[in-house]
Amino acid sequence: MSDGNFLEEINKRRTFAIISHPDAGKTTVTEKVLLFGRALQTAGTVKGKKSGQHAKSDWMEMEKERGISVTTSVMQFPYQEHLVNLLDTPGHEDFSEDTYRTLTAVDSCLMVIDAAKGVEDRTIKLMEVTRLRDTPIITLMNKLDRDTRDPIDLLDEVESVLKIKCAPITWPIGMGKEFKGVYHLLRDETILYQTGQGHTIQESRVIKGLDNPELDDAIGLYADELREMLELVQGASHEFELEAFLKGELSPVFFGTALGNFGIDHMLDGLVEWAPTPLGRQTDQDTFVNASDNKFSGFVFKIQANMDPKHRDRIAFCRVVSGKYQKGMKMHHSRIGKDVRISDALTFLAGDRALLEEAYAGDIIGLHNHGSMRIGDTFTSGDKYIFTGIPNFAPELFKRIRLKDPLKQKQLLKGLIQLAEEGAVQVFRPLVNNDLIVGAVGVLQFDVVVARLKAEYNVDAIYEHVNVSTARWVYGDDKKVDEFKRKSEMNLAYDGGDNLTYIAPTMVNLSLAQERHPDIKFAATREQ
Ligand code: G4P
Repeated sequence: MSDGNFLEEINKRRTFAIISHPDAGKTTVTEKVLLFGRALQTAGTVKGKKSGQHAKSDWMEMEKERGISVTTSVMQFPYQEHLVNLLDTPGHEDFSEDTYRTLTAVDSCLMVIDAAKGVEDRTIKLMEVTRLRDTPIITLMNKLDRDTRDPIDLLDEVESVLKIKCAPITWPIGMGKEFKGVYHLLRDETILYQTGQGHTIQESRVIKGLDNPELDDAIGLYADELREMLELVQGASHEFELEAFLKGELSPVFFGTALGNFGIDHMLDGLVEWAPTPLGRQTDQDTFVNASDNKFSGFVFKIQANMDPKHRDRIAFCRVVSGKYQKGMKMHHSRIGKDVRISDALTFLAGDRALLEEAYAGDIIGLHNHGSMRIGDTFTSGDKYIFTGIPNFAPELFKRIRLKDPLKQKQLLKGLIQLAEEGAVQVFRPLVNNDLIVGAVGVLQFDVVVARLKAEYNVDAIYEHVNVSTARWVYGDDKKVDEFKRKSEMNLAYDGGDNLTYIAPTMVNLSLAQERHPDIKFAATREQ
């Protein structure tokens, strides 16, 4: 199958996510990106917090109420001759696990920064995550239609705080009410900004050459200022180097306003030109699977229940790592060692879904999950390996969950285990009693679970305090683990996937247990 067409299909794909601090403009950028991808007719339909309109991806009431995006949505759209997969990530830090796993499924990231605020907390944390795989980063300094900080300061801040070199690709002319446009350093042209065109694709006026007198006519005194500024900028900043970008060492920087739909296309041009074509992934057998390998493979990085309440189904989001998906094909489910025939995989378009005929490495496909799929599961064309690097994190917050109506215990357990498989929350069942303990990384996850148990499983649950402050997955040789189980029964539980877990009332207790049982490994993350 390694024909020219196959490689062409793979090479035209770009799979990326947007990372940013809440309110920096991720939703607005997404909306404008989709507008360029012709996936939306008019901007303003992804999310309208004030207007009460909501995108199809905002499928939960809770999201609407809080104005946060809890779920990861996937959007595929064409841009120029390329096919772009954009993975949306939850903005709220309480859903960081979800975000982390989504970032394992992309090949590059767009970092959106509010140019009035600069680098903010959440951006720092997300960048740390992207550094684990040295994911290439493109930067967009947003909100130039407002009074922003000095652009040179912004670049300095990114370099010093986020430890990545900056190569400005465009440079802003003026800001706020006086924002005139940007100069594109690589194309040697000035692109002029017009206000009031945010909902459409702008027909921008472009002036070629920095010394072109037209530029003086168009922007007056700003022209000379720009010329002087650029000398300074070119001397003080880095030049764009593709190799350094691909290694995650240097970020091309664009300036614009998502609201005014200006600069988004410059960024997209950079993305399709420079961002990596689909990258391969590492397996547990010390092998590396390349995207161009013609045998199909992929991994599940996210499971989402009831995306469409009408369907009441659960979808596993699978990143295709290599080869090609074809409707009706057989896949090997590595963890359980079985072959499954898949004829109803889905593709996603701006929150809508459609049956998929074929998909290639780099794409995200939706698999209907009838209970056999978990986060981290690998599908192959018969090989037994599992892709590595898709972790669960030990929760930091715990509550006991109890039913208002004790007759529905079975429903509650089913709901919790399904929500745990999805990664929405983690659930622990102690060895010594019938408690159900919910563990979360962020406090909002608790609210989501109770809301979803009610909406999707029709159970009313409440939380109670529980004396657990941390958890660790437990590994070791069978004999040692058995012995440990006998001695520490009081503090042991099974998680949603039946993995043995130590649940500690205090950190001191955990340290003591670690000291007493040097043969046991206590892990804060768990890979499938
Ligand atoms: P987020 O997803 O990163 O949280 O940010 P979002 O796009 O929702 O943007 C946060 C706020 O910033 C929104 O205003 C949005 O309109 C505004 N915004 C985004 N890009 C720009 C820009 O380029 N210039 C200006 N001036 N504002 C921008 P809001 O009033 O909070 O919400 P809304 O009612 O407009 O949705």
